[in-house]
Amino acid sequence: MRTHYCGQVTESLTGQIVHVCGWVHRRRDHGGVIFIDLRDREGLLQIVFDPDAAEVFAQAERLRSEYVVRITGKVRARPAGTENPNLNTGKIEVLGQQIELLNKAETPPFQLDDDTVGEEARLKYRYIDLRRPLMQQNLRLRHDVIRRIRNYMDAQGFIDVETPILTRATPEGARDYLVPSRTHPGHFFALPQSPQLFKQLLMVGGLDRYYQIARCFRDEDLRADRQPEFTQLDVETSFLTMEQIMAMIESMVRELFLEVLKVDLGTLPHMSYADAMGRFGSDKPDLRNPLELVEIKDLVADSDFKVFAAPAKDPKCRVTALRVPGGAKISRSEIDAYTALVGQFGARGLAWIKVNEKSKGRDGLQSPIVKNLSDAALAGILERTGAEDGDLIFFGADKYKVVCDALGALRIKLGADLGFTKPGWAAMWVIDWPMFEKDDKEDRWVALHHPFTAPKIFDAAMVENDPGGVLSQGYDLVLNGIEIGGGSVRIHRADIQQAVFRLLGISDEEAQEKFGFLLEALRFGAPPHGGIALGLDRLVMLMTGANSIREVIAFPKTQTAHDPLTNAPGTVDARQLRELSIRSTLQPATAPSAA
Ligand code: AMO
Ligand code: AMP
Repeated sequence: MRTHYCGQVTESLTGQIVHVCGWVHRRRDHGGVIFIDLRDREGLLQIVFDPDAAEVFAQAERLRSEYVVRITGKVRARPAGTENPNLNTGKIEVLGQQIELLNKAETPPFQLDDDTVGEEARLKYRYIDLRRPLMQQNLRLRHDVIRRIRNYMDAQGFIDVETPILTRATPEGARDYLVPSRTHPGHFFALPQSPQLFKQLLMVGGLDRYYQIARCFRDEDLRADRQPEFTQLDVETSFLTMEQIMAMIESMVRELFLEVLKVDLGTLPHMSYADAMGRFGSDKPDLRNPLELVEIKDLVADSDFKVFAAPAKDPKCRVTALRVPGGAKISRSEIDAYTALVGQFGARGLAWIKVNEKSKGRDGLQSPIVKNLSDAALAGILERTGAEDGDLIFFGADKYKVVCDALGALRIKLGADLGFTKPGWAAMWVIDWPMFEKDDKEDRWVALHHPFTAPKIFDAAMVENDPGGVLSQGYDLVLNGIEIGGGSVRIHRADIQQAVFRLLGISDEEAQEKFGFLLEALRFGAPPHGGIALGLDRLVMLMTGANSIREVIAFPKTQTAHDPLTNAPGTVDARQLRELSIRSTLQPATAPSAA
């Protein structure tokens, strides 16, 4: 139907007749002349209709926004002074000779160039929203990233294998999406939270190098970087060490950034989990932000200030200072707002000291807590934080995790509010994760990665005797403070896997019932293996500069895991439920309507 995309008609075609197809982006009537901006995926093209050509002019007058047309016309230079340097096609226009109306459109629910449209409306009319140039760019960048990933993996000898969607639960830590079985009444499939167990079985199966652009399903609380279904680049290899796997993925990510964004991420630093938590209060620190936490337990343990002294003596607690250069200008009401922020993470307060004039000793400090601290403690704090005149120091004293969460979040907020976090890129690996963490509330051990992650030393007795001290061969890839990937070397021995299950409170019977097939496979010659999964949506979100993964997914769900376009999830009729041996406990009044 067409000779060119709208966005590709340029001055080299001057004098030629072109046929173009697309949507009416805008119609302007200017002193007897009609201008149509015609849009297709490659861009906008200005078409002019002259009243001298009365018939086609009358047709052009009837065109409305988003009508679909085929237009034939002659390319000509725009009159001097009317060029648009922002458009590919800005030097020329097409003198319209024929219009073929291919389809009409109702008045669109929103204008494509309106950036204030609510998300519910954008998702309900996603097919219109997708016409926006920005959405088209995002999806094309996503395509480009996936294409390059496939090329890279192929070149490295990886084989793309599909794994089941109807399967059993895999423990990645979220709730499962369940699918009732008709042929096995009362039984359910779970949608995979990841292909984790299947990719391990592929290694036992001798595939050696597997990858998949895999869809994963997790019923968890949604956020800007979480969707109930999302996509991973899922990878597993045999006979490679942790360092080799990391190096292979690192060079892929570096290549992607170089080729797609012309950005060199450099060699990625490795940081231990303990360092990341200690210095940044986070297992995914944004290294673009220079603010750091420093430990001051030893400086305040003997003070009379109970708020600090008690946690300073408790090994499960930390007492931490965060220096904010130039922070003395932060107002009382701003400090109150920061106190409210850390309160959301369980902190019971946010002590602070403003350093007005260091040379004056305690008289040069302004703070609700200096009266409680000795000269020696104050001097020690100033020295260790490196505080200078004009700075402010915040403090956190509480359970280790509360301080990390609270001051970690405060650090991010201050980085944004005061401009410490500069635009750009900071990628890193977090390694040396503890295998297990004590859940104090329930007094049980939980795995920091999934329970198939290998300990650094393959020793079942160590797992049993000192679980808190065992480090894992897990690694997370972090970019600008966002976890974009996680993986590990796996347990390839049944005895160790069983010891880990037992420690996690999974009885031998339960392990047999849920993971018997894995334990069995490990006994039939499982090779040492390991891998990783990258969150593709998150990676593409960061690469496009979008602020939510919903901007890089064609048909995402809302924050409440609802799809306004198809109205999923929906109700089903009673007969379907009967076939599945399912009866709803919902009362009709509260049951969702079958809209
Ligand atoms: P993990 O659970 O860390 O590891 O997931 C890997 C990566 O997937 C992304 N991700 C998500 N993205 C969008 N929405 C979500 N709800 C969501 N959940 C996770 C993150 C994360 O880093 N089987 C292991 C991998 C392995 O060990 O090889 C796994 O799934 O970017
Ligand atoms: P208080 O003596 O409880 O009035 O607290 C004195 C100062 O210490 C106030 O600025 C509180 O915000 C702060 N504060 C109280 N508890 C903590 C805590 N756990 N960590 C850090 N600061 C705290």
